[in-house]
Amino acid sequence: MTDTKKSIHGQWSSRFAFILAATGSAVGLGNIWKFPYITGENGGGAFVIVYLACIALIGIPIMMAETMLGRRGRQSPINTMEDLAQEAGADPNWHYLGWLGVVAGFLILSYYSVIAGWGLSYVVKALTGSFSGASSAEIKTLFEGFIASPVQVIFWHTVFMATTMFVVARGVSGGLEKAVRFLMPTLFFLLLLLVAYAMNTDTYQRGIHFLFDPDFSKITADSVLTAMGHAFFTLSLGMGAIMVYGSYLPDHVSIAKTTVMVACADTAVALLAGIAIFPIVFANNLEAAAGPGLIFQTLPIAFGNMAGGWLFGILFFVLLVFAALSSSISLIEPAVAWLVENKNLSRFNASVFCGLATWFLGLATVFSFNIWSDFKIFDRTLFDLLDYLTANLMLPIGGFCVAVFAGWIMKQEHSRQELEMAKPEHYQIWKFLVCYISPAAVFLVFLNVVGVL
Ligand code: TRP
Repeated sequence: MTDTKKSIHGQWSSRFAFILAATGSAVGLGNIWKFPYITGENGGGAFVIVYLACIALIGIPIMMAETMLGRRGRQSPINTMEDLAQEAGADPNWHYLGWLGVVAGFLILSYYSVIAGWGLSYVVKALTGSFSGASSAEIKTLFEGFIASPVQVIFWHTVFMATTMFVVARGVSGGLEKAVRFLMPTLFFLLLLLVAYAMNTDTYQRGIHFLFDPDFSKITADSVLTAMGHAFFTLSLGMGAIMVYGSYLPDHVSIAKTTVMVACADTAVALLAGIAIFPIVFANNLEAAAGPGLIFQTLPIAFGNMAGGWLFGILFFVLLVFAALSSSISLIEPAVAWLVENKNLSRFNASVFCGLATWFLGLATVFSFNIWSDFKIFDRTLFDLLDYLTANLMLPIGGFCVAVFAGWIMKQEHSRQELEMAKPEHYQIWKFLVCYISPAAVFLVFLNVVGVL
């Protein structure tokens, strides 16, 4: 029998609602903005293969584990971990895993919101026809001029953060559930359209070759870490986002099936974005390793030169912002849920508080692209540092602990009961992955970076 405890924050209306919300959380800037640029920076095909392997062997098993812990605990990650540790007779310090997630969520959202703000400003640029007929040099100048202006970037960061807080204050299953239902398929369609555009460039083959032909000599210890970190980032794992969404999941919904569906949808979006972008990069002699500005310097060229590009450009950036919004709320939800549970704050006050703190932290990212661009720690700008610290270190550490807890600490009968797999062998496979393969893989990647291997 499954636990019949319910979350005080409400519950998804159906299994489909959970799939939408989890897909909404997973599909975001990570797929469309980050995946292409880190693939470009890390040499293409071989990096993509390592990333796909990480999704399958580490991401999916841990995603199942995290959803399961959430549903069993039915509270914010901090309190869930505390209760589950107690239930398993384990050390109460496990609740620090929840804290690690809350901090990681803040740090990630602080820069996520700035980049989503770039997307917002591009909606306006698309609307006012800034891309129309523009050359790749003009598009580059447009982007560089924009990020060089703290005032403009802060303005859009503020708009995005305020919207996020507004949505979070209204609760998880309100308007957003409905919006995502129709926005996600539209985004998918637009990506297909961009892929069709890319297929008509004469550099299409070169783009495909870059993305899918592995050249393992381009892989370093650090690129393997980046690929693994991105597997966590793109599936929203390792910081409690999926745990908190799992806590709103009705009983008896198959966690395995839903997780695999979400992971496949997420991967498909990332690969489509890559297929659309790299042919455009090569057709215009742009740098594949251009960094965080990559999509903002490539896609507008396509919109500026295709039939109907004005409308598609607007639509694309609007959808990008919505995809970012449905992700950003999951980054802050663990903290908000905890404040509501433990500090007796209303959802509204908790959201405003978290939003202001994140907004403030976001200024570091804003400035790292202009007035502080020369300020480096360990040879990284503040933005790079935040990204490295969260995606490459905190999320894998969080995910490692989730795997260890689900595999080794939690009672087998409890995990079996929550997962309710159709076949006993499926449970065995999951258990093997989560006990041995996923934690060992994370550990080895870390050792490799430190230089022990
Ligand atoms: N997965 C989202 C993306 O790819 C970002 C995100 C949302 C996230 N929630 C998260 C990343 C939790 C890590 C942890 O854009």
